[in-house]
Amino acid sequence: MALVINIPNRKLDNLVQRLKEKLPNETISVWPGIENPDDVEFVLAWKHQHGSLSGFPNLKAIQSFGAGVDSILSDPELPNVPVARIVDEHLSKSMSQYVISMILAHKLRHKQFAQQQLEGIWKPKSPRRVENVFVLGAGQLGEKLCLDLCQLGFNVSAWSRTEKSIPAVQTFIGDKALYQQAALCDYLVCSLPLTEETKGILNEKLFNNMPNHSVVINVARGEHLKEPDLIDALDKGQIEHAILDVFQQEPLPSEHPFWHNENITITPHVSAVTNVDTAIEQIVNNYNKIKQNKAMTHVVNKSLGY
Ligand code: NDP
Ligand code: OXD
Repeated sequence: MALVINIPNRKLDNLVQRLKEKLPNETISVWPGIENPDDVEFVLAWKHQHGSLSGFPNLKAIQSFGAGVDSILSDPELPNVPVARIVDEHLSKSMSQYVISMILAHKLRHKQFAQQQLEGIWKPKSPRRVENVFVLGAGQLGEKLCLDLCQLGFNVSAWSRTEKSIPAVQTFIGDKALYQQAALCDYLVCSLPLTEETKGILNEKLFNNMPNHSVVINVARGEHLKEPDLIDALDKGQIEHAILDVFQQEPLPSEHPFWHNENITITPHVSAVTNVDTAIEQIVNNYNKIKQNKAMTHVVNKSLGY
């Protein structure tokens, strides 16, 4: 049995070394350097080139190297095998810290005071009176964020596909609640998986329902956001600011209008990066499960898309 790592455009030395340490008797190769495609039964993939997962006649499973599986499931030539994803406390903690740091920096006016420092201006101003956070997606990442925000005293509501119960968090499902809660929020955070249902959810209609002082934070996928709708909403003052960690095209092209929009804060897809040290056990366990003809953990539902 052989494992193939299909993760283009990334330095893989550490990952390969760690896998070799944990699976010393297995053949581990990095796509496209595969000697014997017939031996390949397990692929570890991230943003693979579509079509490159086919051609392994004995493939039994695909493991995403991230929490999201949209780039795998959108492959029109996806082999008909189970797909698992990474579920890791480290990711949820990292995402929560990222979002909270952004919310607190905005609430406490960090950018404004940094500018005042550059200009030598001493001008106190109270924190913004904003407490309501609406989190779209109450899964591994969204739920942890909600709980951490509650600990800090924010009023938190969350929106998911199925009913949820999260202590101190108001939970909602359905389109009507989406727009009702959007109208009440100061910060709207998208932590949804990218699916047919959620694509383009951050759009004109949603922004038109949000208060003028509100901030949208997208840490999920670039395709959740209708980019021209965001630029219009910011230009019109329909919403105040956007904090974006993910983009339709990554790296964000140098000519993209987001770069120079002072109402947009950009980070380069760093809010929750898969950590080899913490993800390795899950990958190896799933490999061993497949070897023993057992089901992997954290297998996604392909028809739901997550
Ligand atoms: P989960 O699958 O654990 O959670 C997804 C949540 O979204 C669930 O609460 C689910 O509802 C909800 N949801 C799905 N579809 C809908 C819908 N149609 N309407 C309403 N709610 C919906 O995913 P994770 O929390 O682990 O990750 C979420 C996404 O974050 C990933 O798919 C990935 O795209 C992105 N991500 C981004 C990272 C970054 O660095 N920027 C890092 C890691 C992930 P229910 O609970 O009812 O099923
Ligand atoms: C993920 C990501 O899905 O890093 O894990 O975006």
